[in-house]
Amino acid sequence: MSRFSAVDVISAKRDGDELSDDAITWVLDAYQGGDVAEEQMSALLMAIYFQGLGHRELRTWTDRMIASGETLDLRGLSRPSVDKHSTGGVGDKISLILAPLVAACGAAVPQLSGRGLGHTGGTLDKLESIPGWRAALSNDEIRHQLESVGAVICAAGQGLAPVDRRLYALRDVTSTVESIPLISSSIMSKKIAEGTQALVLDVKVGRGAFIKDIERARELATTMVELGVSHDVATVAQLTAMNEPLGQAVGNALEVIESVRVLQGDGPRDVRELTLSLASSMLSLVGIDEDPAAKLDDGSAYEVYRAMIAAQGGDPDAHLAPSKLHETIEAIDDGVVTRVDALRVGVSAWRLGAGRARKEDDVSAGAGVMCLVREGDRVTKGQPLFEIFADDESHLTQGRDTIRDAFVLNGVPDDALPLLVETITA
Ligand code: URA
Repeated sequence: MSRFSAVDVISAKRDGDELSDDAITWVLDAYQGGDVAEEQMSALLMAIYFQGLGHRELRTWTDRMIASGETLDLRGLSRPSVDKHSTGGVGDKISLILAPLVAACGAAVPQLSGRGLGHTGGTLDKLESIPGWRAALSNDEIRHQLESVGAVICAAGQGLAPVDRRLYALRDVTSTVESIPLISSSIMSKKIAEGTQALVLDVKVGRGAFIKDIERARELATTMVELGVSHDVATVAQLTAMNEPLGQAVGNALEVIESVRVLQGDGPRDVRELTLSLASSMLSLVGIDEDPAAKLDDGSAYEVYRAMIAAQGGDPDAHLAPSKLHETIEAIDDGVVTRVDALRVGVSAWRLGAGRARKEDDVSAGAGVMCLVREGDRVTKGQPLFEIFADDESHLTQGRDTIRDAFVLNGVPDDALPLLVETITA
């Protein structure tokens, strides 16, 4: 019989005691094995939500999450491996450009990604708007593509940190998602299990991010960097602004089209700037001395993108089109755009059909929003501000209602956040 009981572990954490490594190991293993009930784990998660986890506790908790499944072994590749993880933002298509760019500079980029839920889109949903493209790869296929192309963006296998999937679902229904140790261990267990040598975290902060204030974003970033480093993954974090959407396009095919424009040397300046900044951090972590701007401008990154899409069955030359039904939202007055609210633009794109409410829902490839103005722009009455796209009238109506609240003309501007707020290192 075990020397631990779930009730003792819960009450110890509830009362603010530190849990021993053995207690943490036991409780996660017993939960995975079915000997700790969902309601007991729910209570423990709530106790952690209020009492937190110390450094040692968090490290052990994360270790056990990693040990709950398989780990990918990327040693032995001819290139150093480095990945990027974003905490999620609106119009965040950076991975689509960054992975081939960093591969073009000589690294292997294993981007094991997820699908979107709620107002932020998922990288896999975006790429699935390319006909034939396949998200599910075996571990052998991932290794082979990393060796041959240098970049892979695919679905994280069910075998990586499987206990996280159950804990995340439980947190979702027990209002315990917003806990820094629980978010950190959830994200980092999957990234560490993926086997990357180095990792850059893009921690979003602002209206469209799930963390709105800089202090909390800094705490999350610091906690994740410490966890990465303590697991021998060279990790840095950049806090980046998510008040207004990144770039103009928000929606699956729309974002792929915009990413290709950036890969062809064009596209919105903020998308290019953030991509280059993250690329520089990734390259410096693995000691590659290449200029990513040069690889973007000379077409090498675009070549790798094409190879990456083709290697997964996609047609890089396929014509991607927005949904047929569309409408333009115009300025009703002259003035200055004082707010473009990323969260509301994201919700609008979602209601237009680009996102899903439940994980089994389908998404529309062509639905979404094009943001034609940015905060600070001067506009005249009748000037187009947004263009919205949907597959049917009902989605168009829902998206239109939300987009009308997504901007403010002639209001009082908030303090602007720079695109790159700060960098957190170990
Ligand atoms: N993403 C994750 O994978 N886990 C969290 O807890 C939050 C965001």
